[in-house]
Amino acid sequence: MAYKVMGITAGRKNGNSEILLKEALTACEEAGAEVTMINLRDFHLVDCTGCTACTKAMSQGKYIGCTLDGKDDKKKIMDAMLNQDAVIFSVPTYDLMPASVYLTFAHRSLSCETSFLETIGAIEHRDRVAGLISVGGSTRAWQSMALEGLQATMFTTDMKVVDMVLATRVPAPAQCLLDDQLMARARALGEHIMQAVATPAAERRWLGEEDMGWCPNCHSNALVLGEKQWDGLHEKDVQGHRLIKSSLSQSDFTGKEQTK
Ligand SMILES: Cc1cc2nc3c(=O)[nH]c(=O)nc-3n(C[C@H](O)[C@H](O)[C@H](O)COP(=O)(O)O)c2cc1C
Repeated sequence: MAYKVMGITAGRKNGNSEILLKEALTACEEAGAEVTMINLRDFHLVDCTGCTACTKAMSQGKYIGCTLDGKDDKKKIMDAMLNQDAVIFSVPTYDLMPASVYLTFAHRSLSCETSFLETIGAIEHRDRVAGLISVGGSTRAWQSMALEGLQATMFTTDMKVVDMVLATRVPAPAQCLLDDQLMARARALGEHIMQAVATPAAERRWLGEEDMGWCPNCHSNALVLGEKQWDGLHEKDVQGHRLIKSSLSQSDFTGKEQTK
């Protein structure tokens, strides 16, 4: 059966994020994947109210969904997204970080926390991979929280990020088409996604530039000198706090984490 790869963007119609995503998805399709693409701007998405009904129920071992289910398109998108082998996110940078359309979408994923849904048998376990593309009009300095912000939203649905691309200096719609190197890099991300899904989950590894970012774990530059996490840490929490953990010395990592 063909691998399923979904592209999710939040940029302008025929803008840079859409074009780079299509280039990556084309590589996946050429490698035999069944691909789909959506633009979050075509959907009705409302903000998480912070009611925490979902997490309160989870703490009692129950799944009640989100209190906003049925009031917008989030659940419909999540049902499709969680049925994929890989997802590529391509999001414009606004004010140094991912555009709010994407963040609204991502923050509503709390009720879809895959590790919980799998534990109670609501969904089957699936080792999904992700590729991230951030697109901005300026340089790395003006997109300093873009990929980092996207990556921070990956742990709720337990996506393993295998490649990230920062598209810089493309302010005008479709300007990325003038940058052959950038287009080739987007295509390579698609190829990396296909390489990753065809690799046994335990052997999947980072396929982007080895020297990307200061952190050898998450390849981010957002290293924060944080405190040690509390004792009895749940595995999801370890992944979720990778940015903080990664600022600790190697001896602070468990053997399991060193293999990630
Ligand atoms: C409100 C707003 C804020 C922006 N902030 C940034 C920024 O902080 N850094 C940057 O590099 N580009 C910024 N841009 C430029 C967009 O990221 C750029 O135009 C990009 O190509 C948009 O992607 P799209 O073509 O997929 O819509 C901003 C654009 C808008 C509209």
